[in-house]
Parts: sequence; structure tokens; C-alpha cells
Amino acid sequence: MNKLTHLFERNIQWADEIKEKNPGFFTELSKQQAPEYLWIGCSDSRVPANQIVALPPGEVFVHRNIANVVVHTDLNCLSVIQFAVDYLKVKHIVVCGHYGCGGVKASMEEEDHGLIDNWLRHIKDVGRFHAAELEQLDEHARLDRLCELNVLEQAANVCNSSVVQNAWNSGADLSVHAWIYSIDNGLLKDLNLSVSSIKQMEQLNN
Ligand code: CO
Repeated sequence: MNKLTHLFERNIQWADEIKEKNPGFFTELSKQQAPEYLWIGCSDSRVPANQIVALPPGEVFVHRNIANVVVHTDLNCLSVIQFAVDYLKVKHIVVCGHYGCGGVKASMEEEDHGLIDNWLRHIKDVGRFHAAELEQLDEHARLDRLCELNVLEQAANVCNSSVVQNAWNSGADLSVHAWIYSIDNGLLKDLNLSVSSIKQMEQLNN
């Protein structure tokens, strides 16, 4: 049986390196987590939340799925948002997509991908909402733009969730952001959506 021993070896090395720099690191962290950020990103192996923003364990609460989709009926994602907002009291929710997203690309194709097409349906809807803009672009630019529009749409879904609305109604210090990451240079771009109140969200919905 292959027990993936090389990964356990790497794990020991990783933990040792951290303890060498900060002997109390894991003991302190085991007492609590108090992250300021909830990251909702794509499952893509090239977009690891903590590493991109150079934050150690304990600093980011993370939810990832294919193409960073926030669906109003997805109990998994909604539970993550609720726990992060109500219990961890995160101050920022970042929806981070990435250019060249395979899920977004697949949503633009007509062929059958199996079960996942039901998930990608949500991105096809985003494409339909913005068809007039997207039709003007060539294939490459269209994929890039749909990746951006998908992030903006999913961030709006976060803003419209009952959890976030209730938090704002209770006066919580909570902002929702939309970012996109470039796999080809390792850099993040802010899509200039930053919502911190119901009033700002209403402007977004109009
Ligand atoms: Co992706």
C-alpha cells in the first residue's frame, strides 16, 4: 500500500521549520483561531489562498469550490459564511477568482462534461446576463471577462445572503471584496467591488 510517506516527511520538515522560527507557534494556535478574512476561491491547485497573500495558518478561513461559485442554496458554502461571520467575526470576505479558470471555460462550451455541468450552469447564467458585452470580445478576452464577471456576480451573491444582510443590519464591521488572480504572474487584481453596508449593496443591485 502506498502511504504517501513523502508527504508525511514534508509535513515534519514544514512543522519543524515553523517551530524553529517560533517555538510557541502551534501551541498558541491550538488555543483559538481568530482570522480576519474569509476567502472564497476556486479549487484550482494553482490558487492556494494562504500562499498567495503570504499569510500563515490561523489567518484565513477558507472555502474553495470549482470556479468560486456562491449559490443561494449551497448549504456547504452558506454554512462556511455563517460560521465565519457569526462566530469568527471575520471583517472581510474576499471572493477571489482567477484568469484562465477551467470551470469558467467549461461553462462556455457546448459539450457534455457530466455532473459538473449542473454546477457550471450558474456560470452559464452569468454569461447570459452579460451576453451583449461578452459577444463583442474574441475568445480569449471573453474567457478573461467572464472570469471577472463571475467573481463580481458571486461577490454580489455573498452580499445578498441572509447571513451577511443580518450582520450588516446588526452593525457588524464586515466588507465583501471581489478579486481576481493571474496564474501567469502570481499577482492579484482588485475588481473594485467593496461593499460594507446594505446601502452600498442596494446601489450594487441597481
Ligand atoms: Co478555477
